[in-house]
Amino acid sequence: MCDAAEGHFVDRIQCPYHAWTYDLHGRLVAAPHMPPGFCKEEYPLHRAGCDVWDGNIFVFLRALPGPPDQPGLRDQLGDLPERFAAWRMGELRLGRRIVYDVKANWKLIVQNYNECLHCPNLHPALHKLHHYLGADNAAPTACYCGGAMGFRDGVETMSVDGRRRRDVLPGLDAAQRERVEYYAIYPNFLLSLHPDYVMTHTLWPRAHDRSEIVCEWHFHPDELAKPDAHIDDAVEFWDRTNREDWWISEQSQAGISSRVYQPGPYSEREALLWSFDHIVRRSAGE
Ligand SMILES: [Fe+2]
Repeated sequence: MCDAAEGHFVDRIQCPYHAWTYDLHGRLVAAPHMPPGFCKEEYPLHRAGCDVWDGNIFVFLRALPGPPDQPGLRDQLGDLPERFAAWRMGELRLGRRIVYDVKANWKLIVQNYNECLHCPNLHPALHKLHHYLGADNAAPTACYCGGAMGFRDGVETMSVDGRRRRDVLPGLDAAQRERVEYYAIYPNFLLSLHPDYVMTHTLWPRAHDRSEIVCEWHFHPDELAKPDAHIDDAVEFWDRTNREDWWISEQSQAGISSRVYQPGPYSEREALLWSFDHIVRRSAGE
């Protein structure tokens, strides 16, 4: 129907194949050369829903309208809106977007995000800013998991040298200025809240062994408006770290694709991954 990544339909949606035409509510309004008796009302576009949390748009593709007791976005997010209100995400503006094509299943990306045991080996730059055993995890839920990581002494934010070149976001308390909150919000949203910016990863499964990952860095508009605005220190740091994570996730994908692969046991520091596995298994009906 449409392969543009973004844009607006003006007043109708037309299929480029045989010119079936829909209005902006998804109703079929024209279908050339169909026989008498063809009922356009029976062929609308599929319905989808969306909801917004503090600037983040969530789309859900299940059939609508659903049952009245169907859980909505608020139910899914639980206490996160309250927990992260101080970052005022809706006020932030996009500073940079990088799209990655990763040859790994999306669940490997979620798992990789949820542990830092690999950090000393894989992320020498990150290892200078966080101690890899420094995570303070929240109790995992069926809808999200995550936790906070404090900085090493002298570090102010996640950047190429640990220096913070932007003001702390207004509204953060003393504790929130001293750490990063890393949360995986299922199924495909990774939210990383820093003292001075917010980074998001959105995972789009493209095949069982391929994921498109959209990484975005969001900043306070006052910072972006400054003539000497700095964001490259944060973008470069995480772009490097992202690529390290994508590389190891691709290696992991290659490993589990081997005919001799067997799942191995987790360490005692990987409880979040274990909880994610259970959620996946439950949603798969196991
Ligand atoms: Fe990593």
